[in-house]
Amino acid sequence: MQREELQRIKEEALKELETLKDPIQLENFRVKFLGKKGKITQALRGLKELSLEERRELGSELNQLKEYLEFEIEKKRREILLSEEEKILDLDLTLPGRRPFLGGLHPLTQVIEEVCEVFTRLGFEIVTGPEIESEYYNFTALNIPEWHPARDMQATFYLQNGALLRTHTSPIQIRTMLERKPPLRIIAPGKVYRCDADVRHSPMFHQIEGLMVDGEVSFADLKGVLAYFAREIFGEKTKLRFRPSYFPFTEPSLEMDIGCVMCEGKGCRVCGQTGWIEILGAGMVHPEVFKAVNYDITQWQGFAFGLGIERITMLKYGIDDIRLFFDNHLYFLESFK
Ligand code: PHE
Repeated sequence: MQREELQRIKEEALKELETLKDPIQLENFRVKFLGKKGKITQALRGLKELSLEERRELGSELNQLKEYLEFEIEKKRREILLSEEEKILDLDLTLPGRRPFLGGLHPLTQVIEEVCEVFTRLGFEIVTGPEIESEYYNFTALNIPEWHPARDMQATFYLQNGALLRTHTSPIQIRTMLERKPPLRIIAPGKVYRCDADVRHSPMFHQIEGLMVDGEVSFADLKGVLAYFAREIFGEKTKLRFRPSYFPFTEPSLEMDIGCVMCEGKGCRVCGQTGWIEILGAGMVHPEVFKAVNYDITQWQGFAFGLGIERITMLKYGIDDIRLFFDNHLYFLESFK
């Protein structure tokens, strides 16, 4: 190992360093000079053949060269990486970063979650059921006889082989009672389908079904649970009223109205000048329904209710067209973030 030799290595390395353009060249260069069998590594090893003085002099120069090259390789590596990235992004790296786009939950999803949360607090458990149903679960077991107008082709989407798109979430009552023994308290959110479309009706909309069965469940319990729900969702001061109604699967039946949130009872277009808006149907489970699921009617009592999510969401936020929920306009959806 001579001084001239070191000089040659040095010149070669510095000259080659200038030409490096990609990570592979860079790595080859590193191996060639600094690898285990690299020129500098070998030269350092060869030092032991020299006299003490030469060793000291050449040794320190070699080590300096080694450190210099290590530093330059790292610097180049970064430069190359950055320029590659810049090419990919095709932007000025001094620009501020792009903000990630933040999504939000759909207003209907938010209200479904909110309603479910209220009932969960009262000990109701969330269950689901299929959207494609049979006539038996959607109608027959719910005491809706064959001649009932709800079975009319106009309201129900029929599929092949007697299957249909469920027209309400009530078939989940039947499925749950067949699967379980009382006592039970369930809440069942889901999509339902009816052949109907205008500013207030969508062919697909959402309901939440509720069902409670126990040894002693009264009409008063039903009213208490519904009043609690309405005040949690619409506010403590919400006015409520219960009206007698009819459903084949409950007896007695009721509908619950809340004081119109738009006009606060004065009467407006939304409430049809009555000051009241209907938000749900409910009642005590009909003995025929208990018979269909083999529950002993001398032992069990229960109530059920069904509420429309779109309607509740429209009232809560003052939305006057149901189609806004399904048009996916960002300006609409973003106002619910
Ligand atoms: N299923 C009824 C409807 O869609 C609502 C309802 C559910 C009424 C449960 C009473 C009990 O209109």
